[in-house]
Amino acid sequence: MQEDIQEILIDRYAIQARVYKMAQELAATYGEREFVMMPLLTGSIIFVADLVRHLPLRMRIDVAAVSSYPGRTTSNQGTQVLYPTAFDVRGRDILVIDDILDSGRTLHAVCMLLREQGAGSIRSCVLLKKKLPRPPEMEADFVGFEIPNEFVVGYGLDYNGYYRNLPDLAVLHKRVFGGT
Ligand code: IMP
Ligand code: MG
Repeated sequence: MQEDIQEILIDRYAIQARVYKMAQELAATYGEREFVMMPLLTGSIIFVADLVRHLPLRMRIDVAAVSSYPGRTTSNQGTQVLYPTAFDVRGRDILVIDDILDSGRTLHAVCMLLREQGAGSIRSCVLLKKKLPRPPEMEADFVGFEIPNEFVVGYGLDYNGYYRNLPDLAVLHKRVFGGT
C-alpha cells in the first residue's frame, strides 16, 4: 500500500490541529442548541469520529449513505441517496459532514432532500475542498483545507474502496489509476 503513494499532501498532525480548530468553530455556531450530525458514509467516518470527540455538545449522530463515485471512477457519476429512504429531520438543526467537496453535487443532493423533508436548519462541513476552475454547485459552511484539484486518499477517503485507513492524506501514483 505504501508503494502506491506518490506524495503526502497533509499529514496526520496537520489534520489533527485543523480538526480541533474546526470543532471550536462548530461549538461557537451551535453552542447550547441541540443538533444532528449527519456524516455521509463512508468517506467521512474518520473525520467525524475525530471531530465529535472535541465537541462536548448535545447532539445526535445519524448517518446517511450516498453513492456518487462507484468503483474506479474519479468524478461524480450522479448522486444517489441509499440510506435512509426517509429522513427524520422535521424541525431539527442538521449538520451534514462530508470528507471532500469536489463538484458539490453530493452535498447539493443531500441538502435538497433534507430541505424537502422539513429540516429546521441545514449546514455543511467538509474536511477538504478542491480548488477548481469553476465554483462548486454548493459551498460548504465549514471547510478544513483547500487542496489542489487532485484525487486524494487516506483519512477516510478511498479509491475503489481502498486506502481509507491511511492516517495521512495522500496522492496516489498515476499508475494506480491505470489498474496495473
Ligand atoms: P462531489 O459530489 O463531486 O462534490 O464529490 C464529493 C464526493 O466524492 C465525496 O463524498 C467523496 O466521497 C468523493 N470524492 C471527491 N473527490 C475525491 C477524491 O479526491 N478522493 C476520494 N473521494 C473523492
Ligand atoms: Mg464520499
